[in-house]
Amino acid sequence: MKLLVINGPNLNFLGIREKGIYGTEDYEYLVTMLENKAKAEGHEIEIFQSNCEGAIIDKIQEAYHTKADGIIINPGAFTHYSYAVRDALASVEIPKIEVHISNVHKREEFRHTSVTAPACTGQIVGLGLKGYALAMDYLTGKA
Ligand code: DQA
Repeated sequence: MKLLVINGPNLNFLGIREKGIYGTEDYEYLVTMLENKAKAEGHEIEIFQSNCEGAIIDKIQEAYHTKADGIIINPGAFTHYSYAVRDALASVEIPKIEVHISNVHKREEFRHTSVTAPACTGQIVGLGLKGYALAMDYLTGKA
């Protein structure tokens, strides 16, 4: 399968930002973990990160042209207010799982709303970096 992982703003700062919330593993650890898992299971994977809303929208649209089989997206703070990212997700008929490292429901009120989740197949929240691996298992039919 052809998988695309999209990480939004500040996720490149994993291991640096708010370690009590996001853990001590850095972004490179996440990338390596997902690449190794995909390789071991015989899947193609592209892992993309951007702090820019437009670049994330472009990447979602690109998944239509490149015929990705599944998208794993952590839109970061765009989750809570980006109708543009939401519309881009709704535009592509590809299974999509939204992942949040932290349990957004235990945090500030503004994090309780996801405008992007209704455009996704499902959502995994609060399971740390393992949430990405679980999303991959769902998309590949392993789980
Ligand atoms: C996050 C939660 C968001 O509220 C926050 O803005 C992030 C990370 C998470 O993975 O827990 O940047 O998406």
